[in-house]
Order: sequence, then C-alpha cells, then structure tokens
Amino acid sequence: MSSNLVILTGAGISAESGLGTFRDPDGLWARFDWRELATPEAFAAKPEEVHAFYNARRAGLKTSTPNAAHHALVELEKAWIARGGEFLLVTQNVDDLHDKAGSERLVHMHGELSKMRCEHCGYVHDAFDEITTDLPCLNCRRAGGLRPHIVWFGEMPMEMDLIFDQLGSCDLFVAIGTSGTVYPAAGFSQVAKEAGARCIEINLETTDTSPVFDEVRNGQATQSVPAWVAEMVG
Ligand code: APR
Repeated sequence: MSSNLVILTGAGISAESGLGTFRDPDGLWARFDWRELATPEAFAAKPEEVHAFYNARRAGLKTSTPNAAHHALVELEKAWIARGGEFLLVTQNVDDLHDKAGSERLVHMHGELSKMRCEHCGYVHDAFDEITTDLPCLNCRRAGGLRPHIVWFGEMPMEMDLIFDQLGSCDLFVAIGTSGTVYPAAGFSQVAKEAGARCIEINLETTDTSPVFDEVRNGQATQSVPAWVAEMVG
C-alpha cells in the first residue's frame, strides 16, 4: 500500500445521492448561469438573488445522504491511517456528504454550503437555513455582511498550501467524479504526476484530463469506488 494518498472528488461522487452535477446535460450550469449567481460581482449586484440560489441548494442537503462511494472512502481513510499512511481527501463539492459519511482528513477547497461567512469580521459559522442581507453576524453583530462560505469563480480556493504540500509528496493520486475542467483542481493530476505519483481517474466516462492518468476506471461511483477501495484495503 503506497504511503501518501491524495484523493480529489467532484460532483460525480454525489450524483447518485440525488445532488446534481454541474456540467452534465441536466447539470446546474445547464439550468442556471454561474455568471449571474456564482461570482463576487453577481453577489455585489444582486445579493438577495444569490442568497436565494444558495438557500435552495442548502435546503437540498437536508434530504441527501452519503452513498456507497462516500462510505468506501471513509473505510479507506481508516485502513490507510491504521497502516501508517498519509491520507488527504480534497473535495471540490460544497455538499456535506463526505462529512456526514465520517471523512476526517477532508478539505473543502470550494467551501461549504452548510457554512456562512461574515464579510465584516471574517467569522465562519454554521449557515442559517435562509441567509438574507439584513441578518446580523453571530460574532460581530453587524448586519449586511453575511455571504455563503463558498469559493466563487474568480476567488482563491481554500487550503491550497496544504493541498500542494500533499500533492508534491504523494505516491498515489486518485480523482473521482470530476470533469477536470476547472482549475486549479484540474491541474492536480499533473502536479502529482510530476512528483512521481501514480494517478488513477475514476469517473462515469473519460474526461479531457484522462490522458494524464496512469489508469482510468469508468463506471458509476457507487460501483467503481467500493470496488477500488476493496482492492486497496485488500
Ligand atoms: N459516477 C461517477 N462519475 C459521475 C457520475 C457517477 N454516477 N455522474 C456524473 N459523473 C461525472 C461526470 O461524467 C463528470 O465528469 O462527474 C463529473 C462531474 O463533472 P462536473 O459537473 O464538471 O463537476 P466537477 O468536476 O465537480 O466541477 C468542478 O466546477 O462549477 C465548479 O465549483 C464547481 O466544484 C465545481 C467545479
């Protein structure tokens, strides 16, 4: 078993939990214009409309549950660490399914729907079900500054130092359920490869970044991820 494993997940791992992806034909960005809802400029111009979009997505978390792929990654994390390995799960997803499944060494590089941040004091806390611009921050008590704790297009993803540290020293990098179209995440496989890691892509279908990977496994995540974990845990 390799010692340092980094896993990157995308919307495809949550698809079978009923949460949509972004770029599939019925994906979120096929139904909504991200330029109008997922940029700092959009929020500055129409905060209530952006809040309504994220409030609706947040409501969807209440009824979604982790699937076999999420649970398999928790099993792998436990086995990997028990054998003295380093493990980091980097998700692009803003849903809380990895958290609900019990993943611990987990970073949400694009933020979390279940959290909100105050633009006045920077405080991050559990999101209200319905965030509106008039609500006061629970920390500084000022109103008008609450926003979704989400990384919008044009903003810097979170935990990048930790992620690049781990990518630079990993032996195995596995991308699961991501189209490999949004950077910097889409470039992680190249960074890992240049660090000498073996790279595996697990996805419903091949992607533009598939050629970078040493191995590509296609299929539904709830089938392919548990099968791969079973091999890894042996
Ligand atoms: N099992 C495995 N893979 C699946 C499944 C499934 N059941 N269903 C869909 N997929 C794959 C699709 O084939 C696609 O390659 O998941 C991928 C989803 O791609 P995107 O919709 O582009 O989602 P993602 O790669 O996570 O997007 C990255 O873009 O809009 C931003 O911030 C947003 O985090 C997101 C980022």
